[in-house]
Amino acid sequence: MNQSTLANLLAGLPLGSLRYFDSLGSTNEVAARWAEAGAPDLSLVVADEQTAGRGRSGRRWYTPAGAALAFSLILRLQEWLPSASAAIGNGNHQIWAEASSLNCALTRLSALGALAVCEALQQRRLLPQIKWPNDVLLTGRKVAGVLVEMQWHGEHPRTAILGIGINVASSSVPHEHLLDFPATSLETVLQRSVDRWELLRQVLTSVVRWRFSWMTAKFLQVWEENLAFRGEQVCILSAGARANNQVVLEGTLMGLFPDGSLKIRTSEGKIHAVQFGELHLRPQHDEPTPDLVSRQYRSV
Ligand code: BTN
Repeated sequence: MNQSTLANLLAGLPLGSLRYFDSLGSTNEVAARWAEAGAPDLSLVVADEQTAGRGRSGRRWYTPAGAALAFSLILRLQEWLPSASAAIGNGNHQIWAEASSLNCALTRLSALGALAVCEALQQRRLLPQIKWPNDVLLTGRKVAGVLVEMQWHGEHPRTAILGIGINVASSSVPHEHLLDFPATSLETVLQRSVDRWELLRQVLTSVVRWRFSWMTAKFLQVWEENLAFRGEQVCILSAGARANNQVVLEGTLMGLFPDGSLKIRTSEGKIHAVQFGELHLRPQHDEPTPDLVSRQYRSV
């Protein structure tokens, strides 16, 4: 692949600009620097290989050459804001200074990335699910992850970097000893080869389609319809849980609140809202069934 061929393949999408790399550290990192230098809304950084791919909670994300999709979209929030502020009934841009609204935007933008991957996979007659907030599962295993990072101007978030990584070939799945939980690849599930660039086009098309409706009730509904473990018993683990498995909440996953937080009903019937952040969702099995449980990558 090269930049001009990729530009031709993505022609027709309203991208701001495009940069393609055979190899780089992290597309989120390069996109962040490009955004600081003035890249327009919907500018895209794509890499065949990442040598320092970033995952959530400081984890690493494995992207070997020729095997995965790794890309980052620059979202200029002032372009994405009018629909958002209208949808939540506040035309004042100051709303982004409020922590709760920022959390809501972060959660929804992460979900937007996950939902776009889901919609691209559904076009291949697959049944992907979103493990809240932003992992995409196939056959219960993690096939894609989303990392949204914000850039600030004073007290106001100005730009979101929406980074998406998809395991396409089986060689993009890290070795078992580097995983906390199972992962899979698209080609493993489909049992045939996948055109990565066609997949990229489909994911971007979906992001663009939701561009003016990502803060609406309709978006929430579609996100909820694609949520993994709905109606099932789950545990919410604290960030430290990776070391000591500390369960902070157990209950039935009921769905989502409008701000994108997770609705959990405990056995006493109490409803809890779990906010996006340093929490991890797991289905509640003592001995995880590989087909049902997603795994996230461990720091390497
Ligand atoms: C996670 O599940 O922990 C999130 C993984 C996000 C990985 C993608 S790959 C493209 C972009 N660049 C990065 O460095 N990370 C994201």
